[in-house]
Amino acid sequence: MTITVTPLAETFAAEIRGVDLRQPIFDADLADIQAAFDEYGILVLPDQEINDDQQIAYSRRFGTLETSIRYNRDGGSNRPELSYIGNLDKNGKLYPIGDERGLPGTERWHSDSSFRTVPAYASMLSARIVPPTGGETEFADLRGAWDTLPKDMQDRAEGQTVIHDLIKSRKVSTDQNVGKDEEKRLPPVRQALVRPHPKNQRKAIYIGAHAIQIEGWPEAESDAFLQALTKHATQPKLVYRHTWRKGDLVMWDNTRAVHRRCAWDAATQPRVLIRTTVAGDGPTI
Ligand code: SIN
Repeated sequence: MTITVTPLAETFAAEIRGVDLRQPIFDADLADIQAAFDEYGILVLPDQEINDDQQIAYSRRFGTLETSIRYNRDGGSNRPELSYIGNLDKNGKLYPIGDERGLPGTERWHSDSSFRTVPAYASMLSARIVPPTGGETEFADLRGAWDTLPKDMQDRAEGQTVIHDLIKSRKVSTDQNVGKDEEKRLPPVRQALVRPHPKNQRKAIYIGAHAIQIEGWPEAESDAFLQALTKHATQPKLVYRHTWRKGDLVMWDNTRAVHRRCAWDAATQPRVLIRTTVAGDGPTI
C-alpha cells in the first residue's frame, strides 16, 4: 500500500493513509511518516483500532518512551509507558466533574512535559472512546507563530530563558492539593523561549501553560509578553482542531506545537484516549 499525505490546515497538520499500525511498519514507510511528521508537525492516522502493545511498539519507532507521571491512575493502565487520558474509573464509572483524575489543566494550551529538563518530543493519542459531540483537541503551530512574529517581538524573544513549573501551572487550574512528593519530583526547570527544531533547525516559540516566568524580567512584563506570544500563536489561522473518531491515532511534535482539549459533556459522556510520549533528545538550553 502507498502512504498518502493530505494537508489538513493552512500551515501544518496532515492526514496519513495507507498504513496499518496493527502490523510492524516497514522502514521505508516509517521514513515517509517521519518526513511528513518533520514537515507537518501533526499527523492524523484514521481507522487504527490498536491495542496498548501496538501503540507502544509504534511509538518506540520514534524514540525512547517517557514514563508517565500518572500511569497508575484509577481507570488507567499500570504500564509506565501509557498515560490514561480518560474520565472512567476502573469500574467504568464517570469521574465527578472537577476531579483531579480528569486532568484539570489540559484545557489550557500546553506542550507535553515542558516541565521536565528534557521535554517531550512526540506525543501519540489513540482514541478508544469518543463523545458524540465536543472533546476535540486543538493544536497551534509554534513554528508558524515564529515565522509570522513581528521582528521586534522576535528580537525580544531571542536568547531568553523561561521557567516552566507544573506545580504552579496546575494551581491555576485546580484548587486540589498537589502532593509534597510530586513537588519534590517535579521542581521548576529552565527552557529556551525560542527553540530551533532538533532536526531541521527551524525556529519555534516554546510557550504553554507551564511557562511561568521569563528569567530576569519583571513579573508584569514577563506575563504580558508570554500572553502576547500565546495570543499570536493561537490565532485561528495557526490552529488545527481535531474532531475525534474512534480509532484515530494522532501524533504531534511538542517541539513545534501546543495543544489543548475542548469541553464536552463530561458529566454524562465518557471520553478515553491513551497517550504515549516519546522523550526528547536533550535539554533546550
Ligand atoms: C493531552 O493534553 O495530552 C490530552 C489532550 C486531550 O485530552 O485532548
